Amino acid sequence: MSNKEYKISVLSGDGIGPEVMAEAIRIIDKVSSDFNVDFIIDEQLVGGIAIDETSSPLPDQTLNSCEHSDAILFGSVGGPKWESLPPDTQPERGALLPLRKHFGLFANLRPSICFPSLTNASPIRADLVEGGFDVLCVRELTGGIYFGEPKEIQNHGDERVAIDTMVYKESEIERIACVAFEAAMGRNKRVTSIDKANVLRNGILWRETVEKVSSKYPEVELDHLYVDNAAMQLIRRPREFDVLLAPNLFGDILSDEMAMIAGSLGMLASSSLGQSLGNGLYFGMYEPSGGSAPDIAGQGIANPCAQILSASLMLRYSFGLTDAANAIDLAVRNTIDAGYRTGDIFTNEEGTHRVNTTEMGDAILSNL
Ligand code: IPM
Ligand code: MG
Repeated sequence: MSNKEYKISVLSGDGIGPEVMAEAIRIIDKVSSDFNVDFIIDEQLVGGIAIDETSSPLPDQTLNSCEHSDAILFGSVGGPKWESLPPDTQPERGALLPLRKHFGLFANLRPSICFPSLTNASPIRADLVEGGFDVLCVRELTGGIYFGEPKEIQNHGDERVAIDTMVYKESEIERIACVAFEAAMGRNKRVTSIDKANVLRNGILWRETVEKVSSKYPEVELDHLYVDNAAMQLIRRPREFDVLLAPNLFGDILSDEMAMIAGSLGMLASSSLGQSLGNGLYFGMYEPSGGSAPDIAGQGIANPCAQILSASLMLRYSFGLTDAANAIDLAVRNTIDAGYRTGDIFTNEEGTHRVNTTEMGDAILSNL
């Protein structure tokens, strides 16, 4: 019998993207032989490097490859070199946001997991993170102030006025709320919904709609926090949260906060999913939560864990390869428990040692 076959568009992008992607690909290759599945890897240009080589941050050929793939594995885009380009041609606005919109990837799942053995890397007081924590941030990704129209800078007499519009339809709130409640059902059955209902009309509709969805999930405990209060409570008591449900902009901000509280952006994976394809599977784009980290790019010292864990999410949500995904997650966990630390999570703790990107990849491979 021939192996099952999956096509992956691999978009490494800029900065540390290619370095950490190389480690993820090594892991995928090992999974392919260990689990008898075939992966067809189609590497394509995206972001700054795509601008340099084709003058577009998202060339047609790249989009075409993604359209004919089972999933997109994304590295990171952007860097100082492209920051002074016109806004809409910059890597982030010109590639990442259009990819999300084009494929309707409205559900951004960002697990913020602090391993018990990594609590030292968290900047939060030890007694507040002792034993670690596991919070899932469910961020709405294709609506809100990121995409609402009008979005422009106008000339009003002799001064300029910038306008961004925050718009949410009930249906958009409903579908992302369902994702959060479904996720909570498989976890600790708690959803904390984030809004700014004391100021924004969007917040009022968000809260009412989430309440309505919650009535379909009587087992899940729901509470609401204003975003400013949430930013504070997450630092005070991160272990008490289970699933955070947030509109696009608030989810962007809180997921970075959660990443830092967990120890390092270099550990955190993310998945951006569209509508379910049935059987619990989705078309999705998988990427580390951290950015292109131009400050350390090219030195071979970046933490590849987030990229590797993103590949694991891809196996889980787009291919249904649960055993393989579990194996990768466990290999990463065992490698961290064994004391391997890239610079971002190195704290000089006894029993740990500092490694570079490939050494971390080697260790994870050998634990797989
Ligand atoms: C993220 C990033 C992006 C966002 C940027 C690069 C446009 O911060 O994925 O969180 O704001 O969504
Ligand atoms: Mg962000």
